[in-house]
Amino acid sequence: MTTRAVVRGVGHYLPERVVPNAWFEDKIDTTDEWIRSRSGIENRRFAAEGETTSDLAVNAAKATLASADIDPATLDALIVATSTADFTFPSAATMVQHRIGMTGGFAFDVQAVCAGFVFALAQANALIISGQAKRVMVIGAETFSRIIDFEDRATCVLFGDGAGALILEAEEGGGTVSDRGILSTDLHSDGSHRDILYVDGGVSTQTTGHLRMQGKEVFRHAVEKLADTAHASLGKIGLTGADVDWIVPHQANLRIIKSTAQKMGVGMDRVIVTVQDHGNTSAASIPLALSTGVERGQIKTGQLLVTEAIGGGLAWGSVVLRW
Ligand code: UT7
Repeated sequence: MTTRAVVRGVGHYLPERVVPNAWFEDKIDTTDEWIRSRSGIENRRFAAEGETTSDLAVNAAKATLASADIDPATLDALIVATSTADFTFPSAATMVQHRIGMTGGFAFDVQAVCAGFVFALAQANALIISGQAKRVMVIGAETFSRIIDFEDRATCVLFGDGAGALILEAEEGGGTVSDRGILSTDLHSDGSHRDILYVDGGVSTQTTGHLRMQGKEVFRHAVEKLADTAHASLGKIGLTGADVDWIVPHQANLRIIKSTAQKMGVGMDRVIVTVQDHGNTSAASIPLALSTGVERGQIKTGQLLVTEAIGGGLAWGSVVLRW
């Protein structure tokens, strides 16, 4: 028998305020048409004044616990993937731990920017298969509206706020690719690409800073690296794109999503797409897409999913799981 980290619940939370592309037309030199055609984005959500990343994460966590009918006190570990935590410390995860009534176990943040949820899933899987935890909640939560430079038209139109969560639980499987749960992971980073996507501030520089991106360069890396990592995680378990029921990609740009699917030989009818409604929510984008995919009736128990993401660092990776 082989221990697998199997999905027990999924949920999400989006701030109430919907910001359509038209909102930017009065503020910067842009058009709804440019944003739609270059990125696929139509709307995004922005957190209300005073609404923080941990607030979004708590709402997503509560929705997930309620839908799975799980008592928070039975969670062994909680991981929050975020680059926009409320405070320098404590971690967003320990704040969420307290606010949802998780009275034991341990909680920590993972910071791998847009690849954060994939990295956090891999950590949760490692905790479960090594026997260190039985039930783990993984949350991706971000308020990128707080680090956007609203005068930089090349970046400010792309990002949004939100949170999504999964609960994973140890289950014994037969050790084959027919098992439910996480079947394979593939993680990478390369710090030599720091300058193409970063925030020009932080604790040690005594500023908050703003997101800076060389979009074309990041695009080039994304198109190449996302298909490569998805192939790699599938290849580790002897599978290919042909075996995949759903690609659940990081939602940064519809053109990147389409090109990755094409490279994997997967039709767009087998790709979960939410970028039009959420924009790029960084570490929250994959759990938001998973939750939305389930809500829409697209993702069903037993199907094979591959998630893939790339972000600042650069950091990128993928996870194959049977839902
Ligand atoms: O989540 C982390 C990973 N991030 C990503 O994956 C994002 C990757 N990059 C992208 O998604 C795309 O590169 C963008 C959507 C950011 C930009 O698309 P692009 O096709 O690469 O456009 P571009 O940067 O080459 O800009 C084309 C033109 C430029 O004008 P010129 O120099 O050709 O005259 C820009 O100045 O579009 C102009 N432009 C805009 N025009 C209207 C840039 N931003 C805007 C804007 N509205 N908001």
